[in-house]
Amino acid sequence: MSSKKRKAPDDLEQPERVFQDVALNSGDQHRHVAGSDAYFRHLYDNEPDFKELAERDVDFAAVLQANGLLDFADPKAVMRLTKTLLSLDFNLKIELPDDRLCPPVPNRHNYILWLKELMDTSSYEPPGRPIRGLDIGTGASCIYPLLGTAQRLSWSFVATDIDAKSLQYARKNVALNNLEGRILLLQRQPEDSLIPLRGRDSEKVNRIDFTMMNPPFYKSEGEMLSSAQNKARPPHSACTGAPVEMVCDGGEVAHVSRMLEESLILKEEVQWYTSMLGKATSVEILVEKLKANGIDNYAITEFIQGNKTRRWALGWSFGAMRPGEHVARVKTSGWKKVSPPILEIKVLALTSDAPVDLVIERVNEVIGSLELISWSWDSSAMKGIGRTRGNVWSRAWRRKKMRGQATEATTPALPSSTPESSQCRLGFAVAIEMGVSTTTVTLHWREGHDAVIFESFGGFLQGKMKDLG
Ligand SMILES: C[S@@+](CC[C@H](N)C(=O)[O-])C[C@H]1O[C@@H](n2cnc3c(N)ncnc32)[C@H](O)[C@@H]1O
Repeated sequence: MSSKKRKAPDDLEQPERVFQDVALNSGDQHRHVAGSDAYFRHLYDNEPDFKELAERDVDFAAVLQANGLLDFADPKAVMRLTKTLLSLDFNLKIELPDDRLCPPVPNRHNYILWLKELMDTSSYEPPGRPIRGLDIGTGASCIYPLLGTAQRLSWSFVATDIDAKSLQYARKNVALNNLEGRILLLQRQPEDSLIPLRGRDSEKVNRIDFTMMNPPFYKSEGEMLSSAQNKARPPHSACTGAPVEMVCDGGEVAHVSRMLEESLILKEEVQWYTSMLGKATSVEILVEKLKANGIDNYAITEFIQGNKTRRWALGWSFGAMRPGEHVARVKTSGWKKVSPPILEIKVLALTSDAPVDLVIERVNEVIGSLELISWSWDSSAMKGIGRTRGNVWSRAWRRKKMRGQATEATTPALPSSTPESSQCRLGFAVAIEMGVSTTTVTLHWREGHDAVIFESFGGFLQGKMKDLG
């Protein structure tokens, strides 16, 4: 956390509180999203500055040791840190029992940041569209729905748990923040489906856009206790969580596999199915399962907290909208094999003094001459979006067309209400970015299931632009 004082944006103090898709006008919505995202994105880039927190919150000052450190083995101190961060950074209040998990805010915040980018990048709509998330196993804190609704006025949540005590506190926390209109809590049974779109409770849940889950990590109580001992923490405290929260048959792989099984039935009813994972090996096992089920559109990310704790998140979609490269692929070494196919291709890099007008002209000339479903260029953003029914740049396509076999590709652009039309084999964006020393042209994969056609288009553009480099 930076040492300079942070203040939550004013409009967070009175969030909209209705359980419905929030109808801000689009101008207000975009301004709000851009402003608040900038505030939230870098909140925890650095470790919390305890001295600053103590200056701003007397209750935190009371648990801070004389040497300026926090005793992480003391559940009271850990709980105070969570409450203080939620209050100062998000204007959120929270009550927690002593015998349930106390969530570390930066880690939970990371998951929400990733989800915002996942949902934003895998849509043609600008950030801020109405979205409903499902938090499976919300816990006593109800932390994810609280963080999500605090950051996005257009988000609402359905939150479930099987633990009555956790739900009792979750209900209290939703009420403490006046969020009853935007967070629906559901008590589930262990044998119920994880996603309440079928069977019990389905009449209360008409739509879900993404699922999220911090699953019980451990296969047994023994595994959980030995892990807690390694961290020198009292077992079954607010730091480690109760067995009901932390243990399930088969551990996290089994729990996420349940979500996968349900997703194979629900398919595109939910745009993204996601879960956090505590072990790198779980990510590998689950990616294999996705591939075995023919799921090619998935995303992996790594959450790094301090220099010790690492967590991962995995998401998959049956839809055609692809997430951004930075959202879907882990950059640290060792992840190449597990990561999904590349989602962006550098077409051209120039020194920053090269004339950009020529580059813009060439991009529009080359792409504008193709028989696409649609192509539109936004001069202020220096970005164009196009969609095609096939590899209309290839010789094979031109030959087929001459023989009258290629689908007529000159029909008008599809209406924007049908962006995921099955007629589109590739949706892409071309962006020109001017850096300090270089100007780059990048091709982004936005839509489709065919990595080969995306790479072929990247190669075509590189060939057409290379004389400018
Ligand atoms: C690791 S805790 C996560 C709590 C909270 N989401 C957080 O991140 O701090 C896992 C939660 O999942 C709940 N849970 C376990 N099995 C469940 C199921 N089948 N359906 C819904 N919740 C479940 C547990 O009761 C527990 O609250």
